[in-house]
Amino acid sequence: MSRTRIAVLVSGRGSNMAALLRATLDPDYPADIALVVSNVPSAGGILHAQEQGVPFKVIDHKTFDSREDHEDAVTQALKEAEIEFVCLAGYMRILSERFIKNWRGRLINIHPSLLPAFVGVDTHARAMERGVRVHGCTVHFVTGELDAGPIIAQRAVAVQPDDTEEALAARVLAQEQALYPLALQMVIEKRVRWSGDNAVVINGAIGEDLSGLQSD
Ligand code: GRF
Repeated sequence: MSRTRIAVLVSGRGSNMAALLRATLDPDYPADIALVVSNVPSAGGILHAQEQGVPFKVIDHKTFDSREDHEDAVTQALKEAEIEFVCLAGYMRILSERFIKNWRGRLINIHPSLLPAFVGVDTHARAMERGVRVHGCTVHFVTGELDAGPIIAQRAVAVQPDDTEEALAARVLAQEQALYPLALQMVIEKRVRWSGDNAVVINGAIGEDLSGLQSD
């Protein structure tokens, strides 16, 4: 079976991108990373792609006159690489409605909280401040509303009484890296369907369920 050509958009360290890349090494995995794009030239994700021999492009937003021009350059790169599916992994740029519409159902993101709680940045600090007992991560389809698209998969992490923000962030990140490849596989294999505001599992989860919790 032919593998889906995905692009991963990063702005930073790229550990989720690296996790996706590790997953693609399995011959049974349904996708290949055909392109890594970063808007930040110094992003660790770009260095990793380079080291691993993955095609990559730095498209520095600072070298463009407008947000639209930058995004058009990203779109052009995706087109040239014949990308079928886009994963955001710590991509710190707001995408236009046009881009999001164009990739509807083929654009997913990973977010470091149990959405809909803690939309936006600094999720771990806010979770600790709020005193939640359970935190985690979410993979979701991207819509025009920030971190609000249909939820594909989540992993929960218990907040410990003596936690620090760093320790909590590290435990959540480990779950992100386990979850993102599974969630991507679910979408590519059409095991989830976007239905209204929700992503409905229609064909069984892969390996383990999509919350990481026991169901009974
Ligand atoms: C992750 O926590 C991800 O959920 C968020 O940005 C962070 C990126 O980390 N969107 P990395 O670059 O994948 O290591």
